[in-house]
Amino acid sequence: MKKQVLVTGGTGYIGSHTVVELQAVGYDVVIVDNLSNSQLDVLDRIEQISGIRPAFEQFDLVDQEKTEAFFQKYPNLNAIIHFAAFKAVGQSVDKPLMYYRNNLVTLMNLLECMTIFNVPNLVFSSSCTVYGQPEKLPVTEDAPVQKATSPYGNTKQISEEILQDTIFANPELKTIALRYFNPIGAHPSALIGELPLGVPNNLVPFITQTAIGLRQQLSVFGDDYNTPDGSAVRDYINVVDLAKAHVIAIARLMENKNKKNFEYFNLGTGRGASVFEVIESFERSTGQKLNYKVVGRRAGDVEQVYADTRFANEELGWKAEKTLDETLVSAWTWEKNLRK
Ligand code: UD1
Repeated sequence: MKKQVLVTGGTGYIGSHTVVELQAVGYDVVIVDNLSNSQLDVLDRIEQISGIRPAFEQFDLVDQEKTEAFFQKYPNLNAIIHFAAFKAVGQSVDKPLMYYRNNLVTLMNLLECMTIFNVPNLVFSSSCTVYGQPEKLPVTEDAPVQKATSPYGNTKQISEEILQDTIFANPELKTIALRYFNPIGAHPSALIGELPLGVPNNLVPFITQTAIGLRQQLSVFGDDYNTPDGSAVRDYINVVDLAKAHVIAIARLMENKNKKNFEYFNLGTGRGASVFEVIESFERSTGQKLNYKVVGRRAGDVEQVYADTRFANEELGWKAEKTLDETLVSAWTWEKNLRK
């Protein structure tokens, strides 16, 4: 029988790419999503790519009763990948309770059900935001967690603590937290990708929307950082590469290859790219000229962060493969496809 994996947030950006990769290696996928930041037709698109329509249940995992009813309906789950969460840093500052309730209660409900219904394996979406501005770069997994600069970031830190404590108390549970750097790009089919609601906060969707004419101009937030060209540096990781790491993490748990019951890994390329480098790479690889201007720094932004990926490379046997150029081309192809 195929192993069954619950993917929460499976119609979202990283979730949908991960569903496709799970199906490609033979997992039976069940998606739970409340569609608060995604659309139902993502299921059609997943089916177009993989030839398999994943099972889908629409409800809010904040609801404990509905969550329990779901686990009753699907008694053969082997593992869970938990993506479902809010992720807009600025919005979290305005609506902290909405963020704490959504991002923490869903996790607690899932953990409760994992113990009641004997589903031992969980992969959790964490973030490099837990490191703040690290003292040493590239940042390793043992770098200290720094006080979060936003409620969103805090939900990721608290979630990791909830996981650690719950796993300590329930040694039958096992978790891998994956700390993403900056996921960008889209599936090579251009059928799934990032679909920001309203004005994008993140750099790459803002770039592609500007290039296609939806936005007038990209603002570069700061050129006075202590970096080679003065703009801030991040580690941009291709979303398909990222999705593949989830498949490896799930197998590691199910095959009991994990060394501890709570493990965490950096998922990045190991290479920092500045905002100007991203713009230059986009213009060169797509042939599109980008209208941009430098403005002041954005509150809460760190100067530079990029991953030390050795632990993920060695332990998971995973490595990011796609270049920044080809990833930006995939984001551009997706954007063009969306606006056709
Ligand atoms: C942030 C969060 C991260 C979260 C991610 C997803 C922090 C430190 N990081 O990443 O945890 O997972 O959002 O929402 O909280 N930029 C511009 N102009 C723009 C947009 C961005 O110059 O219009 C610059 C930013 O200043 C930054 C870089 O581009 O230097 C990347 O920004 P963004 O894509 O928003 O991601 P982060 O802020 O790194």
